[in-house]
Amino acid sequence: MTDSQTALECLYDPMRYEQGAPIAELAALRQQAAVIWVEEHKLAQWPGGRGFWLVLRHAECVQVLKNPKLFSSQLGATQLRDPATPADLSYVQQMMLNMDPPEHTRLRRLLINAFTSKAVAQLEVKIRQHAIAIVDNVIDGATEGECDFVKDIASDMPLLCLADIFGLPQQDRYLMFDWANRVIGYQDPDYAVSSAFNPQGGSAMAREALKLRPRPDANGQMPDPRSRNGMDDLYRYAHLLAEYKRGNPADDVVSILLAQVDDAAGIVTIEEFENMFWLFAVAGNETLRNGIPGGMIALLRHPDAWQAMQANPALVPAAVEEMLRWWTPVMNFRRTACQDTGLAGAKIMAGDKVVVSFLSANYDQREFHRPAEFAIRRKPNPHLSFGYGPHFCLGAQLAVAQMRAMFLELTRRFEVMEPAAPPRYLRSNFQRGVKSLPVRWRASIR
Ligand code: HEM
Repeated sequence: MTDSQTALECLYDPMRYEQGAPIAELAALRQQAAVIWVEEHKLAQWPGGRGFWLVLRHAECVQVLKNPKLFSSQLGATQLRDPATPADLSYVQQMMLNMDPPEHTRLRRLLINAFTSKAVAQLEVKIRQHAIAIVDNVIDGATEGECDFVKDIASDMPLLCLADIFGLPQQDRYLMFDWANRVIGYQDPDYAVSSAFNPQGGSAMAREALKLRPRPDANGQMPDPRSRNGMDDLYRYAHLLAEYKRGNPADDVVSILLAQVDDAAGIVTIEEFENMFWLFAVAGNETLRNGIPGGMIALLRHPDAWQAMQANPALVPAAVEEMLRWWTPVMNFRRTACQDTGLAGAKIMAGDKVVVSFLSANYDQREFHRPAEFAIRRKPNPHLSFGYGPHFCLGAQLAVAQMRAMFLELTRRFEVMEPAAPPRYLRSNFQRGVKSLPVRWRASIR
């Protein structure tokens, strides 16, 4: 092992991310090459692997993401961490995230059809109401106070929004909190080792599903959430929900999805729905629970931006795009080369793992003027935080709506928000996660 290879461990060692993301290291590497080879050693928190190509520059990331014929989402799925067994790989391949055309196109089309403009408009109205209620709850009649921005402000918004999409009883949203913790926080003992989950009430469907909740082993570790038996309770819940919605359709997205018969794309089977439910419950939750605090961290470090948004709320939409670029809540996704090919001089062989670094691409000075600066008026802002190409985030519009509503309400209702203690970061090389963000606030006089 060479010194330079050891230095590259910071890119995939999950423990490194507890000190913050390796932005400076990525910048130095990006200067030298667009694509580098990274050996993957076994570490305390990493099983090791056969190594991967890391794509660092914006243009090359786009090239990979828009070309599923060369770079497959299906062959090795889309995570930096290899599936532990062939059975685990086949299991995750049932999710659209880990599919290639034409199967992917079919499922994606059915989902897009379900997000009708009427359904999205209704969701956006509810999102604004949730933002008001969340802030009301924090202020609770006081003029100043302290709170944990992650727990008290950021984490409920995506759960409430997903409950609206699924049309599920709101008290069941804590199940999604638990599922997302188990999946995304798998490398972090604060999240993954959870034996004392309290569902806080719950519907009959939730009680039924919880009978199948996997049990932690003698060390308190839950089974691998990327294996089917790691998420038995989620699958049971999704199954019961689909049966219920088929019998009792309402105007939520899931009812529309399950009721539609698309001539070209056919219908959604219950099994397909169960996998979509998994993807949404995780993809639509943790990303925002990290993205909203990431945006707040940017504002805490740039109070002038906070004040500018207070004075001119019309700046909020562009500021949200900049928060997404600056923080980059999802740091990377993986593809697998389908055939021998070249990329910016790198000789990629069929079967090689190719990891696109959104975090690096979003700081590429070839694409962004002064990328280290947090510039809320940046235009254009072609960040890759929602990906690019056929797998471009299906929830991007809703994610942006949630962030806009949250930051509009925050800057309207809080005169001052400042750090009360340093943030604590998630042990994960995939999501740029914030576990806690203590803040001190003073309410605006209204
Ligand atoms: C700030 C929040 C979010 C970020 C940063 C984010 C990021 C991403 C990225 C980078 C991808 C592309 C994956 C790839 O290329 O392999 C993706 C896909 C996806 N996202 Fe998001 N996401 C966010 C919020 C959401 C929300 C709120 C939902 C659902 C309500 C959602 C649902 C999905 C789904 C279903 C896919 C798979 C699309 C496909 O395979 O065609 N995401 N997301």
